[in-house]
Amino acid sequence: MDKEILSHYNSPQGAQSYTRKFEKHLSERINNRHEQRLLQRLIGRISSETPFETALDLPCGYGRLMPLLRRHARHVVEGDWSLPLLKIARGNQRADTTVREADGYVRATALAMPFANQAFDLVLSVRLCHHIREHAERLTYVRELLRISRRWVVFTYFDYHSLKNQLREVRRKLFGKRPKWTLRASEIEKIADEMGFEVVYSIPLSRLFSGHRYVALRRKP
Ligand SMILES: C[S@@+](CC[C@H](N)C(=O)[O-])C[C@H]1O[C@@H](n2cnc3c(N)ncnc32)[C@H](O)[C@@H]1O
Repeated sequence: MDKEILSHYNSPQGAQSYTRKFEKHLSERINNRHEQRLLQRLIGRISSETPFETALDLPCGYGRLMPLLRRHARHVVEGDWSLPLLKIARGNQRADTTVREADGYVRATALAMPFANQAFDLVLSVRLCHHIREHAERLTYVRELLRISRRWVVFTYFDYHSLKNQLREVRRKLFGKRPKWTLRASEIEKIADEMGFEVVYSIPLSRLFSGHRYVALRRKP
């Protein structure tokens, strides 16, 4: 895990700043709307009209995705390593009378989650993988997501093969920029196979403007 990024989110200032990220600029508001629509369609497809009994949203950040998740799950647990962000998420949810607040708030690291095997029907993990500096830790993270899911996992990663990353690789070679912290689809498929899952959907957030990809994996019967 990148310590600088982690301590940024874990500080009151960093937490406040992330809370306002999707409101500050028009482009971020558009990105957020586009991302929420994509996720709404994806979870709609995999829940096939029947709500999940239990869902985990980790990292939840300030609870951006909770209203969406609530529509598809009866019991939701919000988790994050950042205490300030967890408090903001809980505060936002208590103040919002239109959405029932989470059934639990848990401080947890995604690299060693304090949950039993197959604890949740759906495990959602958005915009964390690309913050994990070490490749081996990114793979551990994916294994942890699959370990605690009984049925579905939806998570995002920065795709090595995306156009955005290929351009970054050129700039890295020319100007010494740091590499993006990526995964390859083949690595995810290999872990999925080892752990009894299959990749059902893999959708780029944007083919031109983003390297992030949403994947949905299902535990095989
Ligand atoms: C870009 S935010 C994404 C939050 C939320 N999923 C969203 O899409 O709005 C990254 C989040 O990861 C959390 N985080 C960073 N390292 C973590 C770790 N090792 N375990 C759990 N959460 C972590 C941060 O506190 C922050 O809330």
